[in-house]
Amino acid sequence: MQNFENFLLDNLPVSKSIHPTYEDALHNMLVAGGKRFRPALLLGVVGAYNSLLLDGARHAAYAIELLHTYSLIHDDLPAMDDSPLRRGKPTLHISFDEVTAILVGDALNTYSFEVLSNAPFSDYTRVQLIRELASNGGLNGMVLGQAIDCYFENRPLKVEDIKFLHTNKTAKLIAASLKMGAIIVGKEDLADKLYDFGIKLGLLFQIQDDILDVTQSSEEAGKLTNNDEDKNSFVTILGLDEAMKEANELASELNLEMANFDENLQSELSPLLTKYINRHKN
Ligand code: IPE
Ligand code: IPE
Ligand code: MG
Ligand code: MG
Ligand code: MG
Repeated sequence: MQNFENFLLDNLPVSKSIHPTYEDALHNMLVAGGKRFRPALLLGVVGAYNSLLLDGARHAAYAIELLHTYSLIHDDLPAMDDSPLRRGKPTLHISFDEVTAILVGDALNTYSFEVLSNAPFSDYTRVQLIRELASNGGLNGMVLGQAIDCYFENRPLKVEDIKFLHTNKTAKLIAASLKMGAIIVGKEDLADKLYDFGIKLGLLFQIQDDILDVTQSSEEAGKLTNNDEDKNSFVTILGLDEAMKEANELASELNLEMANFDENLQSELSPLLTKYINRHKN
């Protein structure tokens, strides 16, 4: 992923204006790191089938990371989760101010589509990628999930509804990362299979995140933990033991499903999955 980090640093959003801190704020959370899980999924799929396309694919991986980073900046706002810490750093509304955090989020959101529109692919591929990121990251995806997440604070939901919430706020973008990799390498038959796998992986990822909220310190997580008390998290609704059980079941299902992918894809994706699939147990 070193190449991806270099690509990101070389392509940070640029703005030349009289604003004294806007550019610093634009870069602040992007350069703070994070797992880069979604870019790694996309690049893993591309690497499995056509490594010559990896240079181009970094544009798409970066676009996803831009949109994801915007979602985190807005997620931490006082009106949403009201969190002072992200990726081990003070959040933007703390380091700068709330207006800056809102606008930087807006800027990264739209910049992600600018990056995709300039990616070195055919027009057809670019439109497919833009559609995938927009439909999974937007009004019927991440934004819908966030709306439900915030509206239903202190209003307990049924487990099925929490799965719907988690699928939208988190899983769809993870599924889109895999599918966008398949689109880039022209494997349309694989795209839907990978999307379904990604939805399950994304649900696991959010259940793990719910578990880590109660098992990790803020220092370990690099973000405020013990912050889900009012939320419909798997842990608040089912309890830690049941949430762990659900995560373990999903992790074993994913391991079995991985075995159905061809060898190239398995060898690209399994190191990533090995790293993350059991993180709730650490
Ligand atoms: C955090 O995402 C928000 C969720 C969807 C759980 P990540 O855990 O991928 O955050 P970073 O990118 O590593 O900071
Ligand atoms: C946020 O879920 C998912 C997003 C779309 C950003 P959380 O609110 O649980 O994410 P963290 O725990 O703050 O990273
Ligand atoms: Mg949240
Ligand atoms: Mg949050
Ligand atoms: Mg969380």
